[in-house]
Amino acid sequence: MFKINPYRPGAGLMPTYLAGREEDIQDVEQIFEALTMNIPAQSMIFSGLRGVGKTVLINKLQKIAEDKEIFCRHIEVEERNDFISQIAACSQAFLRKVSAKEKFKNLIQKPLDAIKALVVSFDPNENTFSLSVQERELYTSANLTQSLTDVFVTIGETAYKSETPICFFIDEIQYMKAAELGSLIAALHRANQLGYPVMVIGAGLPKIYKMLSEEKSYSERLFLYKEIGTLTQEQSGKAIEEPAKRFGVSYSHEAICKIIDITKGCPFFLQQLCQIVYQKAENEVIEASDVENIVSLFFEALDSGFFRVRYERCAESDKKFVFAMVRCGKLPCMISNIAQNLNKDVTSISTTRAQLINKGIIYPVRYKELDFTVPEFSGFVRRLDEFKIWCEEN
Ligand SMILES: Nc1ncnc2c1ncn2[C@@H]1O[C@H](COP(=O)(O)OP(=O)(O)OP(=O)(O)O)[C@@H](O)[C@H]1O
Ligand SMILES: [Mg+2]
Repeated sequence: MFKINPYRPGAGLMPTYLAGREEDIQDVEQIFEALTMNIPAQSMIFSGLRGVGKTVLINKLQKIAEDKEIFCRHIEVEERNDFISQIAACSQAFLRKVSAKEKFKNLIQKPLDAIKALVVSFDPNENTFSLSVQERELYTSANLTQSLTDVFVTIGETAYKSETPICFFIDEIQYMKAAELGSLIAALHRANQLGYPVMVIGAGLPKIYKMLSEEKSYSERLFLYKEIGTLTQEQSGKAIEEPAKRFGVSYSHEAICKIIDITKGCPFFLQQLCQIVYQKAENEVIEASDVENIVSLFFEALDSGFFRVRYERCAESDKKFVFAMVRCGKLPCMISNIAQNLNKDVTSISTTRAQLINKGIIYPVRYKELDFTVPEFSGFVRRLDEFKIWCEEN
């Protein structure tokens, strides 16, 4: 029989009950308040491991901002990277909105020119503007920072004059190229210095903090940083119980404790486990034994989905590196221990290390230490036959 299931495991899928992010939401609401008063506000960056709920949080914040009449656009930076064309398209959309009001039509030429220059010069797949060769030369620039700053300053000025504040939501920031990130920081900084109501809410893997401060030292003052983590005992309890309530289903205290114990409060794992246990449950109260009965199904679902997708992105050399990390036993682990497990020296494995960081599989924790960006990934690796064979051979 078809059963409506209130749990939603999946990338960026808004849970039916968003647990434990009240404080973050309240903080940002205050920032939006300032923005709607035409006051430039501090931008915000959320970092965290895979599946902790960064995307759903920034999507929720976007809804709140939209309700406050802030102009919003969501950008997801992809590995193949098309940040410039996306930011240009979002800026154009902003101009379209402003120009719908007759009295603001005169405000759009300057920003439109800046967007043209950005796209013509830095978007390799540009086909938005049809320009003559001569015009193209006029618009061509060699300096990305300058071009992006021109865009931010001119749309910022338009935002200010038309009293239409802007917030760009940028997800997966870690995939931005260093030069683009540096330019984004500089552009935002300049627009804020001039008092324009433009802000960014970003999200990405833990390495973004280092990426930002390496690009520009003042980025530490430009952004508020917030680490998004697993849910506390109480928050996890709510994430488990609340979605089922309206269907008359509840959980025993022992069942809740067991679920938290297995999932460690990771939102994605909670959704995945509860989806299965809810689907299989035959009674109105879910007991610890119901949870025990589906644990293997839960891990099968993760192994063939959440974990597998990440693992498949590893080349053969990456996989060996991952195996060597798991063999270290405790995580985060030292790069020297990984090298030792591979019978290599540290310098010869640095390319693989960089590759895995770029793919977003691992991240540097402290000096010379590494960990997985995917929670509980080492457990998955241990269950792999390939890993067991590698261990026997090495
Ligand atoms: N606060 C929360 N309460 C309950 N469930 C949540 C919460 N946050 C996220 N989830 C659930 O967790 C899952 C992962 O969320 P999301 O895709 O936002 O994570 P993420 O941090 O963006 O992951 P990734 O780094 O892989 O992009 C989704 O199924 C979502 O419904
Ligand atoms: Mg995400």
